[in-house]
Amino acid sequence: MIPRHVGYIMDGNGRWATLHGLPRSAGYKEGLKAMLEVLRRTEERGVQAATVYAFSTENFARPDEESSAIFSVVKEWCDAYSGDRRVTFMGRSGLLPESLRKSAEALAKRTADGTGMRLNIALAYGGREDIVDAANAAARTGEVTAESLEMALSSYGLPPLDLIVRSGGEKRLSGFMLYEAAYSELLFVDKLWPDMTAEDVDAALGEFARRTRKFGA
Ligand code: IPE
Ligand code: IPE
Ligand code: MG
Repeated sequence: MIPRHVGYIMDGNGRWATLHGLPRSAGYKEGLKAMLEVLRRTEERGVQAATVYAFSTENFARPDEESSAIFSVVKEWCDAYSGDRRVTFMGRSGLLPESLRKSAEALAKRTADGTGMRLNIALAYGGREDIVDAANAAARTGEVTAESLEMALSSYGLPPLDLIVRSGGEKRLSGFMLYEAAYSELLFVDKLWPDMTAEDVDAALGEFARRTRKFGA
């Protein structure tokens, strides 16, 4: 079994940079390279959709220069992207610098008819905020039901989140897709994100295939 949708919590970029005697900003550049390799292999293996956690709402608490370094890596990638994936974003885009917001919007528009793997980028995203926003939106249309709530989540339309992979060694979700993760398989990898390779994707998909999913039954 290949997961339909994989979420990647790309943690450990700052530590990677420190370990190599580099400024933390260098970790984000290297993290982007790892992301591209991971996504390429994920797509090759037949996964329909991937969500990458690029910046959480809590990450705004970091020093401005670190946030700016992350945003500029994301913006440069958005502006240069010329692949065939349909790229979408989820999160509070109003909190982002205007230049990045515009690049993200332009990319989503440009790739709307993409036929490759669906790539969803969690940027200025928090799972609790997303549930709160969805609950409010659902309440405006009538009674809040599981169906109306799910339709209002940012992830609506994406396949079920079958697998979450977190690098960096921490064993927590840090707000990532809290509603959608209810029955996701969780995999925590001890490597720092910039060290992730195609082989790690193969290992993760192998581990997923060996898991028995029960969904409570
Ligand atoms: C992942 O890397 C988070 C972001 C991209 C914002 P970190 O910056 O958290 O790296 P570590 O965990 O400090 O090493
Ligand atoms: C989670 O990593 C967020 C992203 C990978 C974007 P953090 O480094 O922000 O998470 P904590 O602070 O260790 O929980
Ligand atoms: Mg971290």
